[in-house]
Amino acid sequence: MNAKTKPQQWHPASWQDKIASQQPMYPDADAVASVVQRLSMLPPLVVSWEVEALQDKIARAQRGEAFLLQGGDCAENFADCNSDQIARKLKILLQVSVVLLHSLKRPVIRVGRMAGQYAKPRSADNETRDGETLPSYRGDLVNRNGFTSADRVPDPELMLEGYHRAALTLNFVRALAEGGFADLHHPEYWNIGFAQSTPFEHAYKQIVKSITDSMDFFEFISGQPVHRTRRIDFFTSHEGLHLLYEQAQTRFIERSGRWYNLSTHYPWIGMRTAQLDGAHVEYFRGIANPISVKVGTGMSNDWLRGLIDTLNPDNTPGRLTLIHRFGAGNIASHLPPMIEAVQAAGATVLWVCDPMHGNTENTSTGVKTRSFDRILSEVEQAFRIHEEMGSYLGGVHFELTGDDVTECIGGARGLTETDLERAYLSQVDPRLNYEQALELAMRIADLRGR
Ligand code: PEP
Ligand code: CO
Repeated sequence: MNAKTKPQQWHPASWQDKIASQQPMYPDADAVASVVQRLSMLPPLVVSWEVEALQDKIARAQRGEAFLLQGGDCAENFADCNSDQIARKLKILLQVSVVLLHSLKRPVIRVGRMAGQYAKPRSADNETRDGETLPSYRGDLVNRNGFTSADRVPDPELMLEGYHRAALTLNFVRALAEGGFADLHHPEYWNIGFAQSTPFEHAYKQIVKSITDSMDFFEFISGQPVHRTRRIDFFTSHEGLHLLYEQAQTRFIERSGRWYNLSTHYPWIGMRTAQLDGAHVEYFRGIANPISVKVGTGMSNDWLRGLIDTLNPDNTPGRLTLIHRFGAGNIASHLPPMIEAVQAAGATVLWVCDPMHGNTENTSTGVKTRSFDRILSEVEQAFRIHEEMGSYLGGVHFELTGDDVTECIGGARGLTETDLERAYLSQVDPRLNYEQALELAMRIADLRGR
């Protein structure tokens, strides 16, 4: 980088000198400053060692030696911070990871869109109903979904509430992950509940049995329990959208002499906030975490090249992930030039396919949905295109839930547009339900030679 383009000095608030899109308009600046101050005094949710351990794993995935599974709700709600929902989400992520591990024959890095996925970008700042205009709902970190002014005016105290809910979620996830939740000898964690009697039930059980058998065999010949299978690594991620929240949890670590965002292990920059000269890129360039950027059809090669140079100037392994989300109809024309641009730049990135956000459509009655077949098609094309181009698809990014919701159409149960009324709970994007998520993993396993 030459002196002319040398960036200004970075600090956790240097983004405030740039244009920050998608930020809430708080009515009371003093109240915001007080919350940011209080938030910055609270203990971090994660520690820098974990963040660095994850970066090493991502570097392995970049070399083709591991695979990333990232998934969870489009937006977490404060109300869903309860034991059943958290445990079910962890369970589906574990089950999907086991299917992927078995078929791809590589360690799977598990990352939840959890413990902080509370802020959402919106296409419009305001929403009008029956002649009344109020600020758009931007996620529980910012305001509430009800259509009254008390609900919609952004409330900075919700940042503290979000921090607390994230801490409660993470505490429970850590206890489950440490405490035997993932032990394959506990069938209750591995049974597939309401997804029983679906076409893939038998194949799924075979996978779990084959893994349990190999572990039993290993324990038998070694005379040792396979400790590592009783506890699992699990990491968190969220869109680093609300920059005051992120800034308040950015801490300097003396040991490494670097700044870390310690609200999560692996934050990402969303599609709508990836402008090269924008505040989000400014904030992200200074933190030491592994980071991702969502990339889609609107991104030029120059823009992508600029992001790579700014966010990973030293080409550090494990640092940068590109999550592509083109849509099943666009990936074949858009992904190859992007791979070429990254190859030409000699950049080390992890490629991850998000088959959700390019495949959102409206039903005839205006309900947001996604089709299982299009989601599967995008993943299938992604694997193939990377392979054909000598690149490596190192992960998948799903919006899913452990619950029996009806938000996406298709899958083995053949959910139709009319079924969507039964259990459509998402306030934002439609998620794969428990059964669809597991089926998707099984179908990927089929494609990759289970
Ligand atoms: C999301 O991941 O929920 C999201 C908004 O994605 P994108 O930035 O890719 O549109
Ligand atoms: Co979404």
